[in-house]
Parts: sequence; C-alpha cells; structure tokens
Amino acid sequence: MSSVLTDLCRYPVVQAPMAGGASCPQLVAAVAEAGGLGFLAAGYKTADGMYNEIKQLRGLTGQPFGVNLFMPQPGLADPSAVEVYRHQLAGEAAWYETPLGDPDSSGGGDGYEAKLAILLEDPVPAVSFTFGCPTRDTLDAFAGVGTYTVVTVTTPEEAQAAQWAGADAVCVQGIEAGGHQSTHRDDPQTDGTGIGLLSLVSQVRETVQLPIIAAGGLMRGSQIAAVLAAGAEAAQLGTAFLVCPESGANLLHKQALTNPLFVRTALTRAFSGRPARGLVNRFMREHGPYAPAAYPQVHYLTAGLRAAAAKAGDAQGMALWAGQGHRMARELPAGRLIGLLAEELDAARAAVSTGSMQ
Ligand SMILES: Cc1cc2nc3c(=O)[nH]c(=O)nc-3n(C[C@H](O)[C@H](O)[C@H](O)COP(=O)(O)O)c2cc1C
Repeated sequence: MSSVLTDLCRYPVVQAPMAGGASCPQLVAAVAEAGGLGFLAAGYKTADGMYNEIKQLRGLTGQPFGVNLFMPQPGLADPSAVEVYRHQLAGEAAWYETPLGDPDSSGGGDGYEAKLAILLEDPVPAVSFTFGCPTRDTLDAFAGVGTYTVVTVTTPEEAQAAQWAGADAVCVQGIEAGGHQSTHRDDPQTDGTGIGLLSLVSQVRETVQLPIIAAGGLMRGSQIAAVLAAGAEAAQLGTAFLVCPESGANLLHKQALTNPLFVRTALTRAFSGRPARGLVNRFMREHGPYAPAAYPQVHYLTAGLRAAAAKAGDAQGMALWAGQGHRMARELPAGRLIGLLAEELDAARAAVSTGSMQ
C-alpha cells in the first residue's frame, strides 16, 4: 500500500460507503477498530445529518475513517419522461397505498456545497466522491486541510480526469459492483458497456499513476489478492459488509442476499433513474424495461413505495442493492470479517508464492 493509505488502515480493506443506512457509524467504527478503512455515506443525507454521523462516529472510534459525497447531477432529465413513469407507477402507489414522491424534492444540489464547507471546516481523514469528479479547487482545498481524496471511476478516461484534477487516489469500480454504477456521466447509450473489475484495474494501472482502490464483486481474501496483483493498493467491499450485524441495512435486504429465491443481479434504473445493481425482484422486472434516465428524480418518486414495501415486509418491492458475489456473503461481525479477509489474503499470497495454487 502507498504510505498514505497505510496511515489510514492496517489492512488493504476498505468498507464501501453505502447510502440508505447500511454504512452507519457503528459499522464504520467496527471496521476502523479492526484495521480497515470505513466510509460513511453522505449522499442522501443533509449536511447536518452528515455532520451528526461524523460526531457520533468520533465518539465510537479514534481511528481514521472516510466520508463519501455524491457529485451534484446536471439535472438534464426530461420532465415528461418522469411524468410518464409516474403514470406507469400508479398501480404500485395503489397497491402500497402510498402516494408517489415529489421528483424535485432534492432541491437540485442535495447540499453538496454545505457538506464541503463542513468537511473543510472540521476535516476528516478521507473523502471520496461518486458520480463525477470535483474541481481542482475543491481537491486542492481538501489537500490543504490534510484530507485524503478518492474519486470513483469506471473507465480509464475517468481515472485520467481524476488525476488531472488532483485526486490522491481512484476507486476503480467494476461492472460487478452492487449499488449505483459511479459513471461520471449518465449516458443511456453506454448502458451495459461497463468493464469487469480485473480488466479495468489493469487498464487504469497502465493509464494513471494514482493509487487504486478496487471495487466490485469482491467477497473473499483470494479475490483481494487478485486485484492487488493486478495493481490495486486496496480493495473496497460493499455487499460483503451489508450482512454484518453492525450494518444498518434493512433485515429483509440482508436476508435476501443469501436467499436462494434471488438468483441473479442486474443493473436497473427502476428505483432511482440511474443504473444500479441489485437482486432481480418483481419491481425491477416490471418497471426496469421502461424506467427513464432521470436521477435523482426517480429516486424521490419511488422513495415512499420502497419504504412502504419494507414496512409491509415485501422484498419484491424494495431496492435490494447487491454485487455479483452476494451469495458468498458471510454474516459475521465486521471486525471478524476483516480478520478473516486478511487471513485469506495472506493464504492466497503464500499459495501463489509457493506455486501451490490450482
Ligand atoms: C447498498 C449499497 C449502497 C451503496 N452506496 C454507495 C454510496 O453511497 N456511495 C458510493 O460511492 N458507492 C456506493 N455503493 C457502491 C460501493 O461503493 C461499491 O462500489 C460496491 O459496493 C462494490 O461492489 P460490491 O458490493 O460487490 O462489493 C453502494 C453499494 C451498495 C451495495
């Protein structure tokens, strides 16, 4: 690991930011105490909500941690496409006896500037960005207060943009990843053209000099060994941490990850308007084929439906974000999971160096 990443965590294991409640202060603290690097997810939080979680986390651990921000989206969504989708979801609203949400309730910027101001005023050890690349001024400002910056990328070109803008590291996200694809631009013409993680890490390694944190479908130490061998400095895992008892994910979501009823994951715009990978369920099958490219409008439109489905105990109406490795999830306390991943990583490296891998 590069020296700065080594300062932030003992093991090359990063717990992914997971908006929606999973990466709560309890999970991040457990990861940090065990020698990993955990991220709080501020994407759907208000600036105050984010700051409250930071303060709570600081009360639980003195170890380094990170905060993840969503880059504001350009708001190019076609209002008439959102209106058509609203009509197409009318049956869901009737079924769950819940009105559809206001697609414009985000206020456009989701408090990005206010969050930056807080993080620069009261700095945290690391900040990562998704859905785009911040300006050089923003990254320079974080460098000035000693915060390590990570920009999530899904192509070598996005990695180049992050390097030019002055990021300290890139989080390279493969197509296998659970949750939203972190493309810098949401272009329906590129749907389904994402690159597999191992190939993407090698391509980015040959394109930029920045340290790489690899993310997407990683569930075992042997897979972490593979991405480190391909040129990454650390691995970022989301789905593997979703099932930990400290994770704030909904119990139905946790159980679905290893329920044989859910055999496939797919990318869908059905819940949020931006491609995200989750377990294929009824809602995704029915509405995915015509859901518009309209993030975050669709996210707010479906918020009430998703909450009502969760309240009714109906996993078929929830967004069950999951990476392709979901069946390999192990329900262990986060600290034990970090320890196990580190042991598996050591074993895989030893097997490679003695040539005993089959
Ligand atoms: C439930 C869930 C929520 C996520 N939320 C975020 C987020 O808020 N910010 C972010 O950068 N990535 C988010 N991700 C993506 C992760 O950062 C990471 O790329 C992904 O989890 C890696 O794939 P894996 O789940 O197969 O390990 C989320 C992933 C999941 C599963």
